[in-house]
Amino acid sequence: MTHIQLHDDVLEILIANAPVNALSAAVRQGLFKAIADAQDDAAVKAIVIRGDGKFFSGGADIAEFDEPSVEPWLPAVVDAIEASAKPVVAAINGTALGGGLEVTLGCHYRIAVPSARLGLPEVKLGILPGAGGTQRLPRLIGAAAALDMIVSGDPIPASKAQELGLIDRLASEDSLLAEAIAFARSVDGPRRTGDRKVSADPELFERFASDNARKITGLDAPKACIEAVKAAVALPIDQGQKVEQSLFATLVAGDQSKALRHVFFAERAAARIDGLPKDLARRPIRKVGVIGAGTMGGGISMNFLSAGIPVTIVEMTAEALDRGTGLMRKNYEATAAKGRLKPEQVEQAMGLLTPTLDFGALADCDLVIEAVYEDMDVKKEIFARLDGIAKPGAMLASNTSYLSIDEIASATTRPQDVLGLHFFSPANVMKLVEVIRGAKTAPDALATGMDLARRIGKVPVVSGVCYGFIGNRMLIPRQDHAMALLLEGATPEQIDRVHTGFGMPMGPFQMYDLAGVDIGWHRDPERIETIREALCAKGRWGQKTKAGFYDYDDRRKASPSPVVAEIIDQFRAKAGVSPRAISDAEIIVRTLYTVVNEGAAILEEGIAQRASDIDVVWIYGYGWPRHKGGPMIWADMAGLQSIIDGLDRYSAHLGPDFRLSPLLQRCAREGTPLDR
Ligand code: CAA
Repeated sequence: MTHIQLHDDVLEILIANAPVNALSAAVRQGLFKAIADAQDDAAVKAIVIRGDGKFFSGGADIAEFDEPSVEPWLPAVVDAIEASAKPVVAAINGTALGGGLEVTLGCHYRIAVPSARLGLPEVKLGILPGAGGTQRLPRLIGAAAALDMIVSGDPIPASKAQELGLIDRLASEDSLLAEAIAFARSVDGPRRTGDRKVSADPELFERFASDNARKITGLDAPKACIEAVKAAVALPIDQGQKVEQSLFATLVAGDQSKALRHVFFAERAAARIDGLPKDLARRPIRKVGVIGAGTMGGGISMNFLSAGIPVTIVEMTAEALDRGTGLMRKNYEATAAKGRLKPEQVEQAMGLLTPTLDFGALADCDLVIEAVYEDMDVKKEIFARLDGIAKPGAMLASNTSYLSIDEIASATTRPQDVLGLHFFSPANVMKLVEVIRGAKTAPDALATGMDLARRIGKVPVVSGVCYGFIGNRMLIPRQDHAMALLLEGATPEQIDRVHTGFGMPMGPFQMYDLAGVDIGWHRDPERIETIREALCAKGRWGQKTKAGFYDYDDRRKASPSPVVAEIIDQFRAKAGVSPRAISDAEIIVRTLYTVVNEGAAILEEGIAQRASDIDVVWIYGYGWPRHKGGPMIWADMAGLQSIIDGLDRYSAHLGPDFRLSPLLQRCAREGTPLDR
């Protein structure tokens, strides 16, 4: 875990704990002992601490947070490093994050390779740097810069770290150790950051909090980070560290941090496909075909183009093709206008696009993604045609949101090459891709789909075949109950407010308005059986027509609609319903507990590989607040029996088709979590 080597009079301590040199108990013990031994060893004049491989250290071992802690604790290790009577130099050979960076802050000097990145990402795990980071970083780089780093959690490159005074010098990539040893010999004894004082403009903290209010509202960790940095300014280091420790202890035991740590591991677990060897050979994907240049087809294509992968896009008519590619260019240019792309990058991406009306042009693609409208017959026809054109071994994917991949695959002679790649709208922005595994999808096709999604910067999750797959299937009860609640007495505003108050970016009706109230509408204004059909018949199709469940002004600002209130009243009258007061608690049960229940059914049916995959789908596909971990862990943390009790309380309103998931019941009875 740690290795020591004497280079004449300089002791090198190497942290070696693959894959990221996390500071597990064994590493802490090794560091602590090596520093202590060095104090008594007359042969040692100075010490260099370095990480093995690509990382200096990824920080504390996050998996240990839920286990009984083993001494020495990291703060004691860092203090021991700082207290060393012999100078200690951190040789930062790669990324140094969290506790890893705190170790370097305990060191008396820091030298780094230019490719190193330095950061304190703890806030993203719902905690704060708990090994003196909130006290030493401000002392080194000033309170304002430290606040930025600690509250954002974003790492900075070595060059910026040097500018800020976080590192003393840069070394060349291939001679770090030699340069660090020479540096250690040259320094003028220990230089302790903890001895420094830091002052700050008294208004800094309030100003910082108000400037960042939108990002940190409702979150415990950023507020605690600000408190801790405030203590660094106000108090000597030993007292400041006590403040830091106590804030850390509260955060780490809190639900927000538990949820955020869960998400960290959930994201990584989602990449794993159960039962497949990790080293399974992938299919090379050098060229992609996309069928359909509509909103989805265009957005999907942009992902590949941005990643440098050429795309052939096929449409039925020249108008549709021109409209689609024009929109792609417009989207790229809008991003460039915001300074997030260079004009030459726009041209580079668009230069990789081949628009065509010739289906035959798909013959040399390694992957073809169909992105036409949701109609099984149309999709089957396309896949049958594709079967005759695509080269052997090419992967054939559908972007369907609901339809059976197995039925689509049955239209081909090669169902082993067929899978679903379900992108979320807008496809060039949303991170989630559900990778749908058909009954006959070949393992290497599935693994290639997962890898490819990551290559284009997405978060892929495997789903089996069912109506709506993981995400949209779970969305159905939410949207249905939201609609039923309208009839019973709630308003769109109330239901949406409960959802945004929960932390979702938008509620069910805001979502209808954004996506289009008319999605899936039969287009017959005379046939009105539902509230949605009534809105559609009146041309209230959502934001695009400036009217949906809300009225919109020219700047897309929403306000409650008297027309919609009138429509809802008419439906109530027709159904003989006299509206009742609906509590926020009922809205939570009917539009969120029912989602949990559907998730449990999906888990039980084996559609999702694991509960945490469902959480990843909801975080990246629907904006479930990360600090609430996703619906399944949220339910686990609330207690599954309380979910069942809630559903029981409103059972009279859940409808004849509602079925309490047997898995949910069993886990509640046995006291086992859905996520294990
Ligand atoms: N603890 C435990 N495991 C860790 C870890 C950590 N700090 N960092 C990474 N890992 C594990 C991952 O879970 C993953 O495991 P699997 O292969 O089994 O899935 C493996 O290491 C590789 O990680 P990535 O797939 O993420 O590799 P990457 O190269 O894409 O990224 C990284 C590497 C930038 C270090 C990234 O893993 C990361 O951001 N890690 C977390 C960093 C962090 O938050 N550190 C702060 C810890 S808290 C702390 O230090 C508190 C304190 O003050 C005491």
